[in-house]
Amino acid sequence: MIIIADLTLNDEYGEQTMHIQLGGKTAVVTGAARGIGRAIASALHAAGAQVIIADLDLPAAQQTAAVLGERAMALHVDAANVSSCRQLVADVLSQAGQLDILVNNAAICPIRPIDEVDPAFFDQLIAINLRGPYFLSQAAAQHMRARQTGRIINISSVGGKTGGTAQISVYAATKAALFSVTKSFAKYLAPYGTVNTIAPGPSHTDLTADWDDPALLEQMRQTVPLQRLGTPQDYAGAAVFLASDQAGYITGATLDVNGGIRMD
Ligand SMILES: NC(=O)c1ccc[n+]([C@@H]2O[C@H](COP(=O)([O-])OP(=O)(O)OC[C@H]3O[C@@H](n4cnc5c(N)ncnc54)[C@H](O)[C@@H]3O)[C@@H](O)[C@H]2O)c1
Repeated sequence: MIIIADLTLNDEYGEQTMHIQLGGKTAVVTGAARGIGRAIASALHAAGAQVIIADLDLPAAQQTAAVLGERAMALHVDAANVSSCRQLVADVLSQAGQLDILVNNAAICPIRPIDEVDPAFFDQLIAINLRGPYFLSQAAAQHMRARQTGRIINISSVGGKTGGTAQISVYAATKAALFSVTKSFAKYLAPYGTVNTIAPGPSHTDLTADWDDPALLEQMRQTVPLQRLGTPQDYAGAAVFLASDQAGYITGATLDVNGGIRMD
């Protein structure tokens, strides 16, 4: 996939050239062994960045890194474990020397009716989907502030705005909280770095394998104005843009990439 955009405009402001190039940048994408994280990592890599495929599943992360080849490496992280999050940032700094772009993508979305949610289930979702991105951002932002540059991109969900369904209430709550975390860190990193959210719509990946019912998928598809579910590639361009210099005046924002299922 080639994600290098050249756009030359001639208007009253003179000639302007847009060229998205992430050469010389180091990006960490959590949960990048597969799915949306993998597509984002591939796109950042295609734009020239060195990418770290960080995942709980190290063998799968290594496979993804091997497919990308040069400028890609795999590292283990358990987003549920704060020490592991801090260790990931330390490993990136010692092995790559710098961290320019952090994409907090790893998450889980198990289905459980509200009546059956217990504290252990609740805490597990908070740990992976919210505490992980928070402490990864904390460690990354300290380094970014020192270098006076940086990009953090949090992958939330349209469910964080709508409450999702009654089957994914805790997941939706963690994704709603990420909007707030984005804004807090956007203030913390300003005026040097930016922090934004991408809110994907329903997409058919391993995360949503439990919905593997053709009738349900068709029902969901019909609720999307653009008449299809998302694919991992649908989110990759948004991430490259938010990571780029061209997005340097966007911070604390949410980019909805959802086929129009929810328009704010
Ligand atoms: N698929 C959708 O419909 C959808 C919709 C909206 C938002 N999202 C969001 O997009 C992101 C990616 O989703 P996906 O569909 O690609 O999911 P996925 O299940 O296909 O991939 C998730 C990845 O995260 C890794 N992971 C899981 N737990 C981890 C942990 N504790 N530490 C580190 N890595 C861990 C997994 O090994 C896997 O590689 C998530 O944040 C998800 O909430 C997905």
